[in-house]
Amino acid sequence: MAGKWKSEELEPGKVLETTFFRNPVGDSPYPFRATHLDGRRAPKVVLSDDPRIRPGVPTQVRIVAVHKPERSDRGWIQIEYVAARELQLDGIYLDPMVTRKLQVLLESGLNILLDGPQGSGKTTMVRAIARTLGMDFVFFNCAAVLDATDFMATIQVRASDSGAPVTDFVSTDLRNALLAAVAAPARRFLVFLDELNRCPESARNALMPALDATRRIFDPVTNQFVSIPDNIQFVAAVNRGRQFSGTFGIDAAQLDRFAPLQVDYLPITAEVDLLQKRHPDVPKASVKRVVEIAARLRKSEELGAGLSVRATQEVCVYLQHPLMEKADDGMLAELLKSSFCGRFSGRWDDATSDAGVAWRIIEQALAEQAKKRK
Ligand SMILES: Nc1ncnc2c1ncn2[C@@H]1O[C@H](COP(=O)(O)OP(=O)(O)OP(=O)(O)O)[C@@H](O)[C@H]1O
Ligand SMILES: [Mg+2]
Repeated sequence: MAGKWKSEELEPGKVLETTFFRNPVGDSPYPFRATHLDGRRAPKVVLSDDPRIRPGVPTQVRIVAVHKPERSDRGWIQIEYVAARELQLDGIYLDPMVTRKLQVLLESGLNILLDGPQGSGKTTMVRAIARTLGMDFVFFNCAAVLDATDFMATIQVRASDSGAPVTDFVSTDLRNALLAAVAAPARRFLVFLDELNRCPESARNALMPALDATRRIFDPVTNQFVSIPDNIQFVAAVNRGRQFSGTFGIDAAQLDRFAPLQVDYLPITAEVDLLQKRHPDVPKASVKRVVEIAARLRKSEELGAGLSVRATQEVCVYLQHPLMEKADDGMLAELLKSSFCGRFSGRWDDATSDAGVAWRIIEQALAEQAKKRK
């Protein structure tokens, strides 16, 4: 099977898998180029301008024609797009259904709203998928927005040469991305609006025309409305942890401009695998105990918030340190007290607070784990 395809083997209609990359010939009418088909070298380059192609993502194609088969120095292979294979990302767990939906939504250009608890991997997942799809990832923290114009520019005050104060507009990453997208229509930008629920309602309302068919936003720098080009796509994230429920202020009209997608914590086995890969020196049994206790806290109806994957990572950081090499149950309890209970409101020794409830659940879980090992 190995080796190079012969032109005559590539009959029209044959379906094969290939991975396209951006065509290094900048002014070519075909922005995508591949060199292999089903893992074997193609006799000529495979070229396409199909906008559904994502650089770096394995794609099924159907052969249409081999142009100039007789020439060894010229010609090209024309294909038809069939489908993209599902994404697989190294070091990142992706829920198969969430990934499938996310890929469809990204390909269709719809705005997406990721709704998931604190530290469940929303930012990690979107950043990784954007990279795989060859999109530029632009991170924008909506929690820092006070005023509608803050999406596009912030005002900085500085001293002029004469010492008098002057104000300057500083373009935000969102505005920079809009300008870059207009200048480079072949590039695709994924603008990640993090913590969209944490900016004031009025500012969010001003963003709405940017998210519907109007696709316009007011630019305070030029004092004009600007159009948002098609190669900009928005993905917003909201954190609907129970303690935020009162402030989850996104109303129905705003929500309706997004395709909502629910994200949850990783399954226990996936989180154990992930942490084990990142902290290979920590015994698997210890990682499992930590993740199982985290899962109990996340499930608890009594607690007002989730528990981030950052918390289980942090415990592994402790456990892999030589100082903690001989961590016994008492030591593990102390680590969970700071890394887990410390993320809830109140104190571990105040049974009426969330931290106190978490501590009770942790103690109980540790006792059960100890009993099982006997
Ligand atoms: N599915 C996952 N695959 C790989 N790493 C993950 C995953 N989920 C979480 N993590 C790890 O957990 C940490 C928190 O993830 P991330 O910041 O993406 O969560 P988030 O949902 O965006 O959090 P927040 O709600 O605070 O914005 C990251 O350091 C990441 O390494
Ligand atoms: Mg995030």
